Amino acid sequence: MPELIKIENASFSYHVPHAEPIQALKNIRLSIQSGEFIAIIGANGSGKSTLGKLLNALLVPESGTIQINGMNTRDSGNHTAIRSMIGMIFQKPQDQIVATTVEEDTAFGPGNMGLSPNEIRRRVNSALSASGLTDYHDRPSYLLSAGETQRLALAGVLAMLPQCIIFDETTAMLDPAGRDMVMRQAKTLHEQGTTILFITHLMEEAAQANRVIVMDNGKIGMDGSPNQIFSQNVETHGLEKPIAMTAADKLRAYIPSLPEQILTNEELFSHIPTFRGKQSVPQQVQEQTSSTAPNVTAQNLSYTYMHGTPLQHQALKDLSISIGSGHMHGLIGATGSGKSTLLQHFNGLLRPHGGNLSVLGMDMNNPKLDTQSLRRQVGLSFQQPEFQIFNQYVGDEVAYAARQLGYSGTLEAAVRSAMEAVGMDFGVYKDRLTYSLSGGELRKTALASALVTKPDILLLDEPLAGLDPVSRREVMGYFNRMHQEGMTIIFSTHQFDEIISEMDAISVLQSGTVISSGTPASIFSGMGTNLPGDLKPPFANVLSIVFREKGWPVPAGIVRLNDLINSIAAITKMAGA
Ligand SMILES: Nc1ncnc2c1ncn2[C@@H]1O[C@H](COP(=O)(O)OP(=O)(O)OP(=O)(O)O)[C@@H](O)[C@H]1O
Ligand SMILES: [Mg+2]
Repeated sequence: MPELIKIENASFSYHVPHAEPIQALKNIRLSIQSGEFIAIIGANGSGKSTLGKLLNALLVPESGTIQINGMNTRDSGNHTAIRSMIGMIFQKPQDQIVATTVEEDTAFGPGNMGLSPNEIRRRVNSALSASGLTDYHDRPSYLLSAGETQRLALAGVLAMLPQCIIFDETTAMLDPAGRDMVMRQAKTLHEQGTTILFITHLMEEAAQANRVIVMDNGKIGMDGSPNQIFSQNVETHGLEKPIAMTAADKLRAYIPSLPEQILTNEELFSHIPTFRGKQSVPQQVQEQTSSTAPNVTAQNLSYTYMHGTPLQHQALKDLSISIGSGHMHGLIGATGSGKSTLLQHFNGLLRPHGGNLSVLGMDMNNPKLDTQSLRRQVGLSFQQPEFQIFNQYVGDEVAYAARQLGYSGTLEAAVRSAMEAVGMDFGVYKDRLTYSLSGGELRKTALASALVTKPDILLLDEPLAGLDPVSRREVMGYFNRMHQEGMTIIFSTHQFDEIISEMDAISVLQSGTVISSGTPASIFSGMGTNLPGDLKPPFANVLSIVFREKGWPVPAGIVRLNDLINSIAAITKMAGA
């Protein structure tokens, strides 16, 4: 295979005014052949996005060289050719949307390549259909949801027919159906000969690549096949093993026939043996959820965006929900099901158009509602962190909401402890410019600013998206501690197993209404029958269903891997006895 990308000793630093330069890449050497499918993984701030931008010549190295098909990226005469060869879908896709409608935006790149109108039309149509946006072709691009914007960025890149596509966390904002679509898309393009560089924080996605590159602190920490990489200690690089591998390693004690080196869910599922022991009645999943008085209740809530215009869209319809005081409550549902709209009602950013809503005893329909006092008690962290960043410096940003709300404690101590809770070193980050943060660092800043005032109710819209695995664990550990101290925490998520497994209760949203509510076990025990088709149950639940199908007397409704392992341990012990 011909060499597509050759990097020799490349280094890169960002220069920011009045501060030390930030060295993002150090002496990188790398060779990528045409037709490879490579996953790039690594902790937040390790240099993944920077590497991508150097490859399509948006940035040039300060030392060393990068050649694309033999063309040096330092020579600006090569830039047009390089950018039509290497397409990149940015981590913040709104940065690459340039035109006012979906169709015009997709046509922008091919238009710049001087193609004939017929060819442009052909490419636009095929890119829109491949990205699932055909029906959206005349929609204004600024009105798209986060996931839809990501699809539009994908369409814009596909229309250029590049030789290599860099996906920078393209799956992070998507629901499971959307993620699968992007992965399928990447695989299809790969089969057609496109080189794929797939940047991700999801190890199960990385496991599907042919080669994995681990970035660590601006250097290449590891480079090899998924098997070679994940059989080593990836935790030292801020990563974790794919969940199927972790599960297989734990299950092997009870099922010795499981082969070594299982990486993907499909491999694991196909190796679960048929149960040969004596059948017994499955025990029930233990659940310790206490019922508490609700502190959020909504009845028949409705809300319509752009009311009275041709773009009117009803986001909430007759929605009823009750959230117990001190509970961790999860809102799950596909992109566009209304989760973010609902959360913004809970802190009064949006007011109901119909129905009743009470939060901590306050009537949210009351036009004279004291929003200052409400926001002191209810903190919100947005889905897209860049929408809530107002300040130049990280320290000021984290302190901002607390200052606005007249926080009475020692602000510096509170800012420091909030930053540490999300794994951001106060000394390192407090004077960093907010515009200069990586995607994950920006998410952590936004989370910290919602934590400073220790509100009674914390609203978290997709809080783990963009965080590396170790940060996800740290942040969830903090939320668990706050939960124990009595905070009510409401999460919206497209399915992070880490979140689902910790919830006291879950509500499933579909088309703006709650279609079912209950404990995680009760929601998932119906084997997905009460879940909309585009939501995936947690991994442990799917695996427990595979076991049940093979005759194992595993209880229904398992959502935690440890509960499943314990159940398998008990069953094999009984069968052996
Ligand atoms: N525009 C910028 N100006 C200054 N520093 C930057 C800029 N963009 C990134 N950095 C810094 O460079 C380093 C590498 O950032 P990069 O965005 O490449 O990381 P990443 O691996 O993509 O992280 P994430 O997983 O959070 O997306 C980080 O320390 C980051 O703060
Ligand atoms: Mg990045």
